[in-house]
Amino acid sequence: MWHEHPAFTWAYEAMGRWEPLFGLDRERRALVGRLGGRVLEVGAGNGRNLAHYAPTSKVVAIEPEPHMMRLAQARAGRALLVRGDAEELPFASGSFDTVVACLVLCTIPSPDRALGEICRVLRPGGMLHFLEHIRARGALLTALQDALDPVWSRLCGGCHPNRATLDLFERQGLHIESMRLGRLGLFVRGVAQAVKPTRYAEPSRWATEAVSR
Ligand SMILES: C[S@@+](CC[C@H](N)C(=O)[O-])C[C@H]1O[C@@H](n2cnc3c(N)ncnc32)[C@H](O)[C@@H]1O
Repeated sequence: MWHEHPAFTWAYEAMGRWEPLFGLDRERRALVGRLGGRVLEVGAGNGRNLAHYAPTSKVVAIEPEPHMMRLAQARAGRALLVRGDAEELPFASGSFDTVVACLVLCTIPSPDRALGEICRVLRPGGMLHFLEHIRARGALLTALQDALDPVWSRLCGGCHPNRATLDLFERQGLHIESMRLGRLGLFVRGVAQAVKPTRYAEPSRWATEAVSR
């Protein structure tokens, strides 16, 4: 279950103009710029990745938050934007060659369930390309992340700074092929392959709302 976050959406959109300062625009291009075939982006937010996809890719992006959706619509271009939940993806099994998760597995209430769904909608051998912030390795930084978590998650639309996202991949059938840790080990960009079908059942709720083409 997700909630509306108008204030966080406004702040996230405003902060977006500082992304080049931290190299985040470059990371976004590296994440999606070379992808081809059928691509699903989960939790596309305000759509900051959408302009970076190659013209050869056929992109579907899902996002549950209506204020984020409105901003993403303006950036959608050729991408199909769909209101939906990564924990219950409204797509048939094996529909995509690639799934993209960017700064989203920290926020999804059940990342396990979402990863299971990602694995389900990927064709066998399909790839998850991810760019995420993760739980740090050093004791000091993790203590700081744990201390910040209660307030941070309230202010930042449910984002958990201390989530050990990478630990969840293998148990949901995703094998990490390659990854690069950013400074302080707080960010990671990488690729994981879907190696086994998910243990989650097919979704029961198929109601989707295609809002643009
Ligand atoms: C920090 S924003 C990141 C947005 C975007 N991916 C980006 O790279 O800027 C996190 C996003 O995850 C979305 N989200 C939260 N729960 C979700 C869920 N269950 N399924 C899909 N997206 C979800 C939020 O609505 C929000 O847009």
